[in-house]
Amino acid sequence: MAKIKVGIIGVGNISEDHLRGYFQNENVEVYAFCDIDEAKLAKKAAIHGIERTYTDVNEMVALKELDAVSVCVWNVNHHACVMAALKAGKHVLCEKPLAMNAQQAEEMRAEAEKQGVLLMVGFVMRFSDESKIALDLINDGALGDIYYSKATYLRRHGCPGGWFADSERSGGGPVIDLGVHVIDHTRYLMGKPKPVSVYAATFDMLKNRPWLKTHVGWRPEGACDADKCDVEDLAVALIRYDNGAVTLLETSYSLNGNGVTAKDLYGTKGGLALAGQPKLYTTVSGYLADVDLATKNLKAGGKGMFVQEIDHFVDCIVNGTECIAPAEDGVVVMKILDAIYESAKTGHEVIL
Ligand SMILES: NC(=O)c1ccc[n+]([C@@H]2O[C@H](COP(=O)([O-])OP(=O)(O)OC[C@H]3O[C@@H](n4cnc5c(N)ncnc54)[C@H](O)[C@@H]3O)[C@@H](O)[C@H]2O)c1
Repeated sequence: MAKIKVGIIGVGNISEDHLRGYFQNENVEVYAFCDIDEAKLAKKAAIHGIERTYTDVNEMVALKELDAVSVCVWNVNHHACVMAALKAGKHVLCEKPLAMNAQQAEEMRAEAEKQGVLLMVGFVMRFSDESKIALDLINDGALGDIYYSKATYLRRHGCPGGWFADSERSGGGPVIDLGVHVIDHTRYLMGKPKPVSVYAATFDMLKNRPWLKTHVGWRPEGACDADKCDVEDLAVALIRYDNGAVTLLETSYSLNGNGVTAKDLYGTKGGLALAGQPKLYTTVSGYLADVDLATKNLKAGGKGMFVQEIDHFVDCIVNGTECIAPAEDGVVVMKILDAIYESAKTGHEVIL
């Protein structure tokens, strides 16, 4: 069978995770690279041995033989790059967040539907082994009815700077960068309920603390103004769903507390903590019981969430498998993110 030809739009940090997945997938030929940064484009093309390079997305997606693209550009350019690729009839895997706002996201979803191609969102946490384990437990009824969850993605000192801290290119701070992951993942595990209202507060008390004598471990490659930061540094939100369940979000770039990433699901029969090794809080024969799930040497999985995400994207294209991270889920999450910023601005609950 002929391999599908894939192009990468935006050859920065996250594209390396996509490439790792594509290079190990026997159904894929990595065919072309595109980036507006000519020097980076040339460097990355040389490293990966890619001959076809483009600085204009429209030129790359005009390649007839190209089947699919990964869109790995700054958030502000997701909409333009995805729309160009969809209009050229290419399947698209777009990094999170799907867009800068729900309106853009809906336009992208509708265009994919019109063209009859796949638009998948890079909700990579859905492809982790812990996600599969959680779904196994949930589908077996181990949690009962889930009525509460906590979506936590806190960094103590972790504003990446660069475009992440520039609201014109990012659309916001930890809400749109980190919160998007844990909001999506908790909602996914809760059975994708419909959001009905959001009440939120955001803060920018600490910003990126450029005066600290330590710096963050990771910053985007290339030119980066570490002192510029006009995005929120902390957000807290209560998201209410149509089935009565609620999710409490906490997400930060800078906060005087422990940096922790965790998803906690609370049901009528059990609670599940996902932060490292999954732990089930339940009852056995009338006793409270804590269960550490043995997850070593899983028979399926173990490749890492990015490789498993790329494998799924390719599987959807090659075998017509139903996508588990479709554009409509990206639209719903963008509605929640829009509502968080709106509620924080007005001080009132936003009804969706
Ligand atoms: N899934 C995850 O965990 C995860 C982690 C990091 C970043 N991301 C997402 O990936 C995307 C990129 O982040 P990054 O860290 O790789 O940033 P980056 O700055 O390292 O790379 C982005 C690249 O896109 C290029 N670019 C920007 N606009 C372009 C355009 N119109 N056409 C072609 N190239 C363009 C830039 O020159 C840059 O090289 C963002 O949407 C971010 O939210 C996801």
